[in-house]
Amino acid sequence: MIAYGRQSIDSEDIVAVADVLGGDYLTTGPKVVEFENALAQKCGVKYAVALSNGTAALHIGAKTIIKAGDKVLTTPISFVATANSILYQNAKPIFVDVDDSANIDLNLCEDALKKDNSIKAIFAVDFTGKCVDPDGLGFLKERYGVRILEDAAHSLGSTNLAKGSDLATLSFHPVKHITTGEGGAILTNDEEIYKHSKLLRGHGITRDSSEFVLGDEAFGGDGKPNPWYYEMQTLGFNYRITDFQCALGISQLAKLDKFVNRRKEIAATYDEKFKNNDLISPLYRFDFDSSYHLYIAMIDFEKAGVDRKELFARLNGKKIYPQVHYIPINMQPYYKSLGYDPNDTPKALKYYRQCISLPIYPDLTDDLQEYVISALLGVLRA
Ligand SMILES: Cc1ncc(COP(=O)(O)O)c(C=O)c1O
Repeated sequence: MIAYGRQSIDSEDIVAVADVLGGDYLTTGPKVVEFENALAQKCGVKYAVALSNGTAALHIGAKTIIKAGDKVLTTPISFVATANSILYQNAKPIFVDVDDSANIDLNLCEDALKKDNSIKAIFAVDFTGKCVDPDGLGFLKERYGVRILEDAAHSLGSTNLAKGSDLATLSFHPVKHITTGEGGAILTNDEEIYKHSKLLRGHGITRDSSEFVLGDEAFGGDGKPNPWYYEMQTLGFNYRITDFQCALGISQLAKLDKFVNRRKEIAATYDEKFKNNDLISPLYRFDFDSSYHLYIAMIDFEKAGVDRKELFARLNGKKIYPQVHYIPINMQPYYKSLGYDPNDTPKALKYYRQCISLPIYPDLTDDLQEYVISALLGVLRA
């Protein structure tokens, strides 16, 4: 079976996990901190907070920068979790149409910000691994005073990651660049966001004596903190990740560059093979800064004389499983029930009608890729 994405696990990963399973800490132990430090260093940020999944990272991230009633610009071309995190806060998503690479269009964001100075934030998504322009985001942040959350679930390993935002969120789901099974993280340079995120991850509880507020309960007569003492200071969650997941994350992170390089090779090969083909073209021409979580081909189904359903069926018959990323969020029944309409973002709608995600993952061999390409071109030519 050749899926659009899958994990790449080797014997080092398995040993790393097994070591932790035989040790003292399955959760809240040293591997969590080690993973966070490795992530922060690799991504060039001051702080990382490791979490149970990418949706938890979005939820916590949203809680640190927006509040109920805030208007937030976001993209319809993402997994539903991005916009859902705005709703979790009882804030209001405003869907902005996309640009030619299906990323949120920053010019349209600026138009919206000029017209409505009550917009508080932008939740941008580094779709496919191509980061939303960090200078453009930085400009909007400065000029209009908005907060920026960067959903970087697709862009670990890309050069521009976490450069123009207040915080970036990652996912370590198996199809992503590195995996911990389920997992996620917040990356930030902002100490306040970092501390708040850590507090929210663990029920709003702190064990840091420098932050205790109930002095009489917290400290004994000798002025030292009582050893049993902990304090709940805000309403938080259990969004912890385990130590064995973090051991896998550390082992995977060491291979990130290799993984991303292989993804880039695969993307460059697809680009080359689709060159001068009038039925199929890459979503964007080869971009060295993209970490290619997805490789998206745009297909002229009308000209090809085949519809997407038939294309999928024919490829599935050859054990090839492409995908569609994504059905516009404002097309989902739940969002429609809130009054949203996909026709308000016509470029996103047009993009959705033409896109397919082709297999791209480190273990996809040249031979398998060639098999995918010839199967695809065979269907389009038939
Ligand atoms: C763009 C985007 N945001 C958020 C998520 C949610 O991440 P997770 O599945 O780890 O909760 C995903 C994962 O599929 C994603 O692709």
